[in-house]
Amino acid sequence: MKVVVLGGTGGMGARVATRLEGDGHEVVRAARSTGVDVTEPGRLVEVLRGADCVVDCLNLTTTSRRRAVAFFGGAARAVSAGAAAAGVAHVVVVSIVNATAPEVSRSTGYYAGKAAQEAEYAAARVPVTVVRTTAWFTLAETFLAQLRVGRFALVPGVRLRPVHPDAVAELVTDVVEAGPTSGPAATDGVAVRSLAGPEELGSAAMARAVARRDGGRVRVVGPPVPVPGIRTGLLPAGDVPRDDRRFADWLRDSGR
Ligand SMILES: NC(=O)c1ccc[n+]([C@@H]2O[C@H](COP(=O)([O-])OP(=O)(O)OC[C@H]3O[C@@H](n4cnc5c(N)ncnc54)[C@H](OP(=O)(O)O)[C@@H]3O)[C@@H](O)[C@H]2O)c1
Repeated sequence: MKVVVLGGTGGMGARVATRLEGDGHEVVRAARSTGVDVTEPGRLVEVLRGADCVVDCLNLTTTSRRRAVAFFGGAARAVSAGAAAAGVAHVVVVSIVNATAPEVSRSTGYYAGKAAQEAEYAAARVPVTVVRTTAWFTLAETFLAQLRVGRFALVPGVRLRPVHPDAVAELVTDVVEAGPTSGPAATDGVAVRSLAGPEELGSAAMARAVARRDGGRVRVVGPPVPVPGIRTGLLPAGDVPRDDRRFADWLRDSGR
């Protein structure tokens, strides 16, 4: 099948694209750096024409509610319309467990953006599957790269049940290959698949472990986030399917 991966040069998009290619599919890695900006509707329809599936792995790093809602909501609306116009049979979007829960989306601009993204896809005229996962192990690396001030990294202290990014890429690939009928339908009409990791960990402890792996030059400061909705709100409910690969094993194997 032909699959367009939006954000196909990013952390998850590249993993998904590589897996799909490995399974013999024709893959377009779409991003601004490859000449596709999802904010240009004409270009988007052109890229989506002839595709069987589009995977949304787009991202914007921001804490601004206004920017996050405009980006994720606007992109989801554009992708839904573009997929309908181009005759694409299935849209798969990568989202976050509990991002749509009011206590989470109310407390953080980024999660408000993810909630807006899911709401737009729920109204799409094409079949959509939302793959909701907990934080990936690699988020600890992202924290260190993006939240660094000199020798320090100021990491928001939240509880997570992180999951191996390869497990997420495997699930997304399975969902693409299974087609639009996969997954139990959620109450809002879209199909939802979820995935979590095996154990509860603190965000600051994960970041400290990566900092140690990388030579210990960065000191992690991780005060607990004062908003309870976000401090524990990202933990999945008990019935979320889980992958058993552990953070400590990933850390050991990912040493540079
Ligand atoms: N990190 C986690 O723990 C986690 C957990 C669950 C779900 N997620 C979700 O997974 C998704 C992917 O995250 P990620 O960390 O893999 O993202 P990422 O590494 O930041 O990559 C983002 C991708 O989007 C592209 N992009 C951004 N703006 C674009 C635009 N206007 N037009 C076209 N392409 C654009 C980027 O390429 P260009 O800059 O070249 O355009 C890049 O390829 C996000 O929606 C995130 O919320 C993340």
